[in-house]
Amino acid sequence: MVLGETSALRQIPRRETEEIPNPVRIAVLISNKGTGTNLQAIIDAKEQGRLPQIEIGLVISDAPDAKGLERAKKHRLAYDIARFGKLAHRDEDSQELGFSLNLQRIGVVVMAGWSRILTRPYFETFEGATVNVHPGMLPNPDGSPFLFPDGTEAPWNKGLMTEKAVANFLGGKYAGSTVHVATIDADSGPVLERTLVEVLPDDSVDSLYDRMKREEWAALVRTLEEPEKIFEAAKSGNDSDG
Ligand code: GRF
Repeated sequence: MVLGETSALRQIPRRETEEIPNPVRIAVLISNKGTGTNLQAIIDAKEQGRLPQIEIGLVISDAPDAKGLERAKKHRLAYDIARFGKLAHRDEDSQELGFSLNLQRIGVVVMAGWSRILTRPYFETFEGATVNVHPGMLPNPDGSPFLFPDGTEAPWNKGLMTEKAVANFLGGKYAGSTVHVATIDADSGPVLERTLVEVLPDDSVDSLYDRMKREEWAALVRTLEEPEKIFEAAKSGNDSDG
């Protein structure tokens, strides 16, 4: 992966004891599998003055043709293309990304349609907190499945991306997404926000996803309004990892 100059970073100590900066610099990770609408929601909220607590420091895409990159350019945001190599180099690429984010003083990473699995070296290297938006319902903290208001078990959709995950809600009564702290185990970690929408009898993947996304945008912006809660949740996730 080619992403900034990283060698100087290896001497930077962990920032666990430091105060939370204001604003917190965030990086949004996107790909060409997504459409960049979550990124746009953050940009819009920022431009409306709703997110003084954060600054969009960087947008990183793993592909040059991601729609979100157009959005980043239009709003004059700094962006970079992380050139992830072969699967065999995934650990190395993950670590380089972590180093690069530290170097750029990123406090919170938001994975919004990012399609690469970040492995352990990323989580061991990056000093900030990582947030993911997942179109599924993560389990409760005790590991039990999340239940919808009608008592039915909500699909977790672990490992399922976008359309496949949304399709899994069709036929049920409810659907929803989770904004959570990302951990080494994909689509798992402390829950920050959940969304809930009703599935209509004539819903298609597109119509349902459209409503789910609107709720995702609002939930993500609410999450970023309180960066201290993200850091707290990330810390509790690390503590319970042992
Ligand atoms: C979102 O629906 C999110 O839940 C999933 O990827 C999608 C990205 O959408 N992880 P967009 O690129 O922000 O429009």
